[in-house]
Amino acid sequence: MVKKRKPGFDEFYSSLFPGRWPALREALTADGSPSPFAEALSKPYFLDAASVSAARALGPTGDSLVLDLCAAPGGKTLVLASSLGPGGRIVANERSGERRRRLRAVLDEHLPPPLRERVCVTGHDAARWGLHEQDRYDLVLLDAPCSSERHLIRDPVRLAAWSPARSRNLALRAYAMLLAALQAVKPGGRVLYSTCALAPGENDEVVRRALARRPGLVRVLREPEHPGPAPGGPVPEATEYGHAIWPDTAGGAGPIYYALLEKIRPSGLA
Ligand SMILES: C[S@@+](CC[C@H](N)C(=O)[O-])C[C@H]1O[C@@H](n2cnc3c(N)ncnc32)[C@H](O)[C@@H]1O
Repeated sequence: MVKKRKPGFDEFYSSLFPGRWPALREALTADGSPSPFAEALSKPYFLDAASVSAARALGPTGDSLVLDLCAAPGGKTLVLASSLGPGGRIVANERSGERRRRLRAVLDEHLPPPLRERVCVTGHDAARWGLHEQDRYDLVLLDAPCSSERHLIRDPVRLAAWSPARSRNLALRAYAMLLAALQAVKPGGRVLYSTCALAPGENDEVVRRALARRPGLVRVLREPEHPGPAPGGPVPEATEYGHAIWPDTAGGAGPIYYALLEKIRPSGLA
C-alpha cells in the first residue's frame, strides 16, 4: 500500500488560503505591535488590538456573572473587567499552575483593588466544566488553546515538528471545551468562542460541529445583534459563523477568530 504523504506547513496553509498565503505568511513573521489597553485599569496592559476587539465582542460585562474558561495570561480578562459593574463578577479559569500564577500576577498588577476583588481565579479543566455547573453564567469567554501560527512560525523546532494532526487535535480539544461552555452558560446568555488560529478547522468548523451536536441549544448572533467591530479597532472579515482579523489586511493585527453564540434553552432539554 502506498502511504499518503502528509503536507508540510506551507503546503497545508497554501491550500487553506489559496493566493493569499504568501502575504499572510509575511504578515505573521513581521513583529506584532501590541498597543496599551488602559480602560479602568491601574496600569496599562499591552496586547494586540485584535484581542481587544474579540473580548469586546462579548458585549459590556456590567453586572453579569462571567466565566473566562482559558484565561492566562489574562489580557482578555482585563478587557472583560474594564466594563464590569459593581454587581458583576468574573471567574477566570486556567488549568496550568504556572500560567495561573502569571494570570494572578497580571490581575494584581493591572486591576484596581475594588475590581480585583470581583475577579476570582480557578484551576479546572475547561472541557469538564459542564459536569459541575450548568445554565449558570450570563457570559462565557472560551479563548481556546490553538495552533497560534504567529508563534509557531517563529519557532524553528516546533515548526519542524508540525503536522496537520496537530491542528486536528487542537480542534478536537476546542470542540470539547465549546460544548462545556455551552452547558455552563444560562439560557439567554452568550458564549464567545475565540482562537488565534488561522486554520478554519479550529474556527468555523468547531462551531459547526457544536451546533450539529446540540441542535436548537444555541444560535449564532450576527450584526446588528452582535456588538460589531470595536470603534477604531481593526476591521474584521465575516466568516460563516463569526469574524476573523487576519494580519495581512488588518495592519498586522491578529490573527484572531471569534464567533458569538446565544443559548436558547436549558442544557438538559433534548
Ligand atoms: C489562548 S490561551 C488564553 C489567552 C488568554 N485568554 C488571554 O487573552 O490572555 C489558552 C490558555 O488555555 C489554557 N488551557 C489549555 N488547556 C486547558 C484546559 N483544559 N482547561 C483550562 N485551560 C486550559 C492554556 O494553558 C492557555 O493559558
